[in-house]
Amino acid sequence: MRRACVIGWPVEHSRSPLIHGYWIRRYGVDGAYTKEAVPPDGVAGFLKSLQIRGLVGCNVTVPHKEAAYAAADVKDESARAVSAANTLWLENGRLHAANTDTYGFMTHLAQSAPGWNERNAPVSILGAGGAARAIVFGLLGAGVDEVRVFNRTRARAEALAEQFGRRVTVFDWDEREARSREAAVLVNATSIGMNGKGSLGIDFADFNDACVVADIVYVPLETELLRSARARGLSTVDGLGMLLHQAVPGFERWFGVRPEVTEELRAILAADITGGLV
Ligand code: ATR
Repeated sequence: MRRACVIGWPVEHSRSPLIHGYWIRRYGVDGAYTKEAVPPDGVAGFLKSLQIRGLVGCNVTVPHKEAAYAAADVKDESARAVSAANTLWLENGRLHAANTDTYGFMTHLAQSAPGWNERNAPVSILGAGGAARAIVFGLLGAGVDEVRVFNRTRARAEALAEQFGRRVTVFDWDEREARSREAAVLVNATSIGMNGKGSLGIDFADFNDACVVADIVYVPLETELLRSARARGLSTVDGLGMLLHQAVPGFERWFGVRPEVTEELRAILAADITGGLV
């Protein structure tokens, strides 16, 4: 049997076992996927002992993504762009690390809003943390000419721009609405709106009709940002799709089957998220 898991601290909230458990059943894979609570001082030791523990790899959630990146022997492009990893696997005795948030976001965006880049307009990103870096990396790879970054702490946005070069421009947080009206896509990569807390305070009234609005937050499934964008008639891209798609490369590595993000899987996660809110 092939075994994988998700490590975090805490890890109880992780929905990765629901996703991988569904695929294990659907494809009849001889595998298992569990949750392992690993404290910060135990991450390096845990990752060194994957093989002894009978694991072929693992997912990594908060707050271990940077430690996992540091522990890996081989790092993919996206992990290097973000300096953090969420998917690890053993290959010829070496620990490989990837950051599949880039793949998850870009795949879900392409499926939900296929024409998102047709106008060749700038893309606006709210936030400058790890999630924002993964998304900026993906957008630049997709050929976006200008990515505008807005972050409460401007210095973090500037550091991001310095890393990625001239196609990334930095604006004040207060300019997020005025400088996004002509955007091809507006992405919330902050934690604002999670569990219904906080508001991004964006009025979509004067936005271009073709603007696509995306959120990485998936609890609630439809955030205030997505709800107001939809009410204005704009296309929306939710955070749940990104969560589901980011899981695909790990499952394929560990269990040898490229899994599909089905409506049934989406419904299982949606029910869990909605149920958890009650
Ligand atoms: P992650 O790695 O998941 O992206 P993070 O590095 O903690 O997480 O980043 C969280 C992002 O949400 C940051 O851009 C943060 O802004 P700061 O860099 O100014 O901290 C943003 N964020 C969180 N709460 C916010 C709030 N109340 N107002 C504005 N931005 C907020």
